[in-house]
Amino acid sequence: MNIVILAAGKGKRMMSAMPKVLHPVAGKPMLEHVIDNARQLQLGRGQIVVVIGHGAEQVEQRCAASDIQFVMQAEQLGTGHAVMQAIPYLNDAVPTLVLYGDVPLTRVTTLQALIAAAGMDALAILTVVMDDPTGYGRIVRDTNRRIVRIVEQKDASASELAMTEVNTGIMVMPTPFLKDCLPQLKNNNAQGEYYLTDVVGAALQQQLRITAAHPAAIYETLGVNSKVQLAELERIHQRNLATQLLEAGVTLIDPARIDIRGSLQCGRDVTIDVNNVFEGKVELGDSVQIGPNCVIRNARIAAGTRLAAFTHIDDAVVGEQAMIGPFARLRPGTELANEVHIGNFVEVKNSQVAAQSKVNHLAYIGDATIGERVNIGAGTITCNYDGANKHRTIIEDDCFIGSDSQLVAPVRVGKGATLGAGTTLTKDAPDNALTVSRARQVSLAGWQRPVKSKK
Ligand code: UD1
Ligand code: CA
Repeated sequence: MNIVILAAGKGKRMMSAMPKVLHPVAGKPMLEHVIDNARQLQLGRGQIVVVIGHGAEQVEQRCAASDIQFVMQAEQLGTGHAVMQAIPYLNDAVPTLVLYGDVPLTRVTTLQALIAAAGMDALAILTVVMDDPTGYGRIVRDTNRRIVRIVEQKDASASELAMTEVNTGIMVMPTPFLKDCLPQLKNNNAQGEYYLTDVVGAALQQQLRITAAHPAAIYETLGVNSKVQLAELERIHQRNLATQLLEAGVTLIDPARIDIRGSLQCGRDVTIDVNNVFEGKVELGDSVQIGPNCVIRNARIAAGTRLAAFTHIDDAVVGEQAMIGPFARLRPGTELANEVHIGNFVEVKNSQVAAQSKVNHLAYIGDATIGERVNIGAGTITCNYDGANKHRTIIEDDCFIGSDSQLVAPVRVGKGATLGAGTTLTKDAPDNALTVSRARQVSLAGWQRPVKSKK
């Protein structure tokens, strides 16, 4: 099939410098949602033509792909005029589906039903009955309930305005028919635009079958014209995603307070507390517990691990039965093995921490390899950066790093070694020894505090 996505409109009411179709729903531009749907329908075959105009360069840059053909509509003269720009790219042998770049949440199953209703030889329109149809084109049917016209709000009579079945804008039709009638559209209407909806009249004249299909839910057809509508759609979408998780057995303490901007895959008996944001691809193993207010992005967290409140994870892998946070930050390249503990105000970056090691308080672990059963004291810092290059710190199994130590990389702490508190380690520490670098403690008996001098 041919798919044409209309995305040339300005979106004036978004009050934004960014083209409307690039505004995100669930972290992904609206147009990308529509393109993803189109791809699912095409299964790698057929054309996806995106009609761009306002902010064309930005849209093209953001959404460019080998299966997408962009066409320019320099002036927005109406939906019919927009589809006309795509004509050179449409294959006559298959029908053409028209989608809107600012209607992001249509379900693929709904579109499949519409396409099935059209078959190879009918015009099928996705319509929906709305309590308040204001602003939409109304579906006008004759006494036999056959569709005879679509009339825009601005062109409608009082009796037509009272009709509640509306045009969602999404339609499918035979391509030769489309190519034949588009150039004949007139713009003698209230908006002076070439309306795609006028293909209904042409279909009647040519005795083309006209039919309708309907979405399972109204939100599938909602378009975005303002930030208010964008926010509404975001909540609807998030609520749907939350419902899917609940149905799969995930415990959400409040399904209204979760944001999934990507894919979230959960094992059995996962519990997610309030105000969590998931971005990119996140996998949570069985019985994982996520405390409130965490941000988790591109991460794999294995079974039985608990994240306490305000944990921030970006591009990291966490093993089983680990305890992370509160207020922990795992940055890209972090790999934590089973039963690792990372406590409050600890930052870990590009480091591997082996099983049962603990970094419980106020530490920076960057570019480090840490063995098993290591205990890293409060305030420890791996000094990985010399101002020009990054260097690695290696801490072998069973080490004990005293509080407030600085490990100036590159440096190695041998198996079973202990560093005394406050050590600034600049040379490797041998296995099983105590290494301490600290000025010897002195006490001056009879020393007097200075007193404030009199003026
Ligand atoms: C259109 C329909 C209306 C329907 C409504 C559903 C027509 C004439 N009217 O009205 O029946 O109820 O959608 O939302 O089709 N666009 C272009 N180029 C243009 C004009 C529009 O690319 O020259 C794109 C817009 O960016 C948008 C879509 O087409 O994605 C719809 O345009 P819009 O102006 O919102 O259509 P409506 O007037 O709402
Ligand atoms: Ca309009």
